[in-house]
Amino acid sequence: MQFFFLVSFYLLAVPATVLACEGDCIVEITKAFLSNYTDPIRLTMQQLAQEISYSIPNQPSPERTINYLQPLLDAYNDDAYDGMENAIFPSYFHGKCLRDGVTPPGCPNPDCDVVCGTPGSLVHFYPKLRYIAYNQTYHGLQRLASPGTDAYKQVENAILNSVHQEGPPSRRSSRLFARFSPLAGSSPTSLASRRDDDEDIRVKVQTIMAKIRPTLESVCGGSGNGETNGLPNCSWEDAMKAYILTFP
Ligand SMILES: *[C@@H]1O[C@H](CO)[C@@H](O)[C@H](O)[C@H]1NC(C)=O
Ligand SMILES: *[C@@H]1O[C@H](CO)[C@@H](O)[C@H](O)[C@H]1NC(C)=O
Ligand SMILES: *[C@@H]1O[C@H](CO)[C@@H](O)[C@H](O)[C@H]1NC(C)=O
Repeated sequence: MQFFFLVSFYLLAVPATVLACEGDCIVEITKAFLSNYTDPIRLTMQQLAQEISYSIPNQPSPERTINYLQPLLDAYNDDAYDGMENAIFPSYFHGKCLRDGVTPPGCPNPDCDVVCGTPGSLVHFYPKLRYIAYNQTYHGLQRLASPGTDAYKQVENAILNSVHQEGPPSRRSSRLFARFSPLAGSSPTSLASRRDDDEDIRVKVQTIMAKIRPTLESVCGGSGNGETNGLPNCSWEDAMKAYILTFP
């Protein structure tokens, strides 16, 4: 009797738990946002690579400087998934779709105006979802692009190495460029000035890396402040809503 009770409880419980965004729904929606963000992130990196290219004395091409940013991208990709999943589920979307103990119309699907853990709720609160994905993306990038992280040091080293290896620039002249003259030889003053030059470059790298958030925001079309209609180029609203509703 008790066995029978447990079995029927289990059978009843299964359809109820399936009407929520869990398992595949969580994994695939998280992946969809990460995947859609690859393009805006690539464009952001290209703009930073452009800035690095014209900010350092040897002026390597953006095609080369984009490689210097690769450690940042790799570090981002390594831990983006967990952060994104957690930011969407369960930090914001979770739980049952009840208001005063009652399931409102449209809930759990397809358009549920209670914040809860179902596709219908993700669809109804899509502007919030869009903002969560953006917020998570820029925080992840910004954190890695701050002095002190391994990725930051690797980027900085790649840029310094590039300047040291390529020697004097052939174009433009400035205080910075003049110091890279081969005529300077290796006298103590040139070592001291090389240290100054390295410091100049470090400051430039920091300034450029700090632009990662405003650059991503502008690539996304602006207004990444949580307002409902911002980020038009990082919204993918119609495609995403349709995709979200493919989950039960
Ligand atoms: C964004 O993701 C959705 C769901 O995977 C997909 O249908 C759409 O094509 C993607 N859009 C872009 C621009 O990657
Ligand atoms: C934005 O992301 C950060 C880092 O994950 C988090 O601490 C913060 O609460 C988020 N803000 C919003 C409004 O979601
Ligand atoms: C946003 O997308 C539109 C339409 O695809 C495009 O014309 C515009 O240049 C994009 N904006 C940015 C900042 O990339």
